[in-house]
Order: sequence, then structure tokens, then C-alpha cells
Amino acid sequence: MKDIIIAIDGPAGSGKSTTARLVAQKLGYIYIDTGAMYRAITLAFLKSGLEFNEKNICKLIEKITISLNYTPQGQITLLNGEDVTEAIRTNEVTNLVSPVSAIHCVRNKMVSQQQMMGKNGGVVMDGRDIGTVVFPNAQLKIFLIASIETRAKRRQLELLQKGVNLTYDQIKKQIIERDIYDSTREISPLKKADDAIEIDTTNLTIQEQTNLIISLAQKKILEINNE
Ligand code: DC
Repeated sequence: MKDIIIAIDGPAGSGKSTTARLVAQKLGYIYIDTGAMYRAITLAFLKSGLEFNEKNICKLIEKITISLNYTPQGQITLLNGEDVTEAIRTNEVTNLVSPVSAIHCVRNKMVSQQQMMGKNGGVVMDGRDIGTVVFPNAQLKIFLIASIETRAKRRQLELLQKGVNLTYDQIKKQIIERDIYDSTREISPLKKADDAIEIDTTNLTIQEQTNLIISLAQKKILEINNE
């Protein structure tokens, strides 16, 4: 049975990570959250105390290693071998991750690492540029969208469960800023690949959007294995 690459892109709060994880679980695929890699670099930068500029960040990434491990409990993010899975989710990291991920050397390094990780297929990879840049030949590309109100509410709930208490307005503003940054940057901006299937999750439950993608994936897997 030939395994495929499933690319799931979309803006913050569109439901990518939960959906991608559940789709991967159902198919027996590996779920790769590429945003975690950009977050780990951002954390390394914050810890370094360096001034924010391209030169400093490019020097820094030569000295660090980012890796992802897979356990039955989910993806573990390692920065220089240290588990930073929780540490990369702070508000401080979220506020700086978009400018860091817009830097050329950061994208070059992360994209080639992601291409290595997914090259044998059997992966569900989520991010901003998976279907356009990382795997433009992915057999199934999904672009998730949702209204800004829904995305902000989802993010607020997610943060509350982690004990982070931000107001709805603060979160909405943060998401809008990140959307602008991620979709207007010069290198590999967030945009729907021409051959991606767009799914609006505003009025869908996680189960509904997951089932929809699983059925698209199963159809594609059958198609490819019958060729
Ligand atoms: O998915 P996330 O919110 O954890 O991603 C954090 C940031 O990382 C996002 O605002 C933009 C960046 N990112 C990216 O540029 N390319 C990706 N493939 C994934 C994330």
C-alpha cells in the first residue's frame, strides 16, 4: 500500500492541528506540526537575549538543533535535545513567531528539514506553506479557513485550558496581526495552493471536519494504489 502526503494549511485557529492529528491517527500516519519548529527557533532566540535582526537569527540557527519526536501522546518538540513542547506555546513566543518565521535562512533550514521528514509519505503535515512550498506535489492538499470570530473563540478556549487568561479582544487582535504577517511576507506567504481543497470550518465540529478530510484521503489513497 502506497502512503500519501497530506498537506493541511490555513491561518491560526482554523482547526489545523486538532484535525491533522485526528486524521493522522485514523490513517496510521505521522502528524507533523511544522509551526512547532518555527516556535522552537523563536524560543531559542528569546533565550539568547540577542537583538532582533536577520543576521543574529541566521547565526543562531546554525548553532541549534530542532527535532520532533513522536510518542503515543503526540508530538514532542526538542530544542538542542531539550523538551520544549510546552515552552513554545507561551504568549511571548506567539507574539514573535511570525517575524522570526518570515526570515529567509529560517525558512530555508526548516523547509529542507520538513521535506526530509515527509519524503517517504505516510504523513499529515500542517502549516502555512506545506501545499505551496514544502510539498507542492502532495497528493492531498487541504486549506482550512474559518471566520475571525470563530478562530479567536477557539484560541481563547484552548488557552484557558492551559491556564492562560487573555481576553477575546486581545486574542482576536493577535490573530489578525499574525494573519497579516503570515500572508503578506515576501517568502512563501500563507496562501491556498491552486489545487488545494478549501474547507470552511466556521460551522463544522472537529469531528465533521476530520471525517470530511479522512474520506477525501481514503479516496485518494485508493486512487493512487489502483493506478
Ligand atoms: O501553527 P502555529 O500557529 O503554531 O504557527 C506559528 C507560526 O509559525 C505562524 O504564525 C507562522 C509560522 N509558520 C510558518 O511560517 N510556516 C509553517 N509551515 C508553519 C508555521
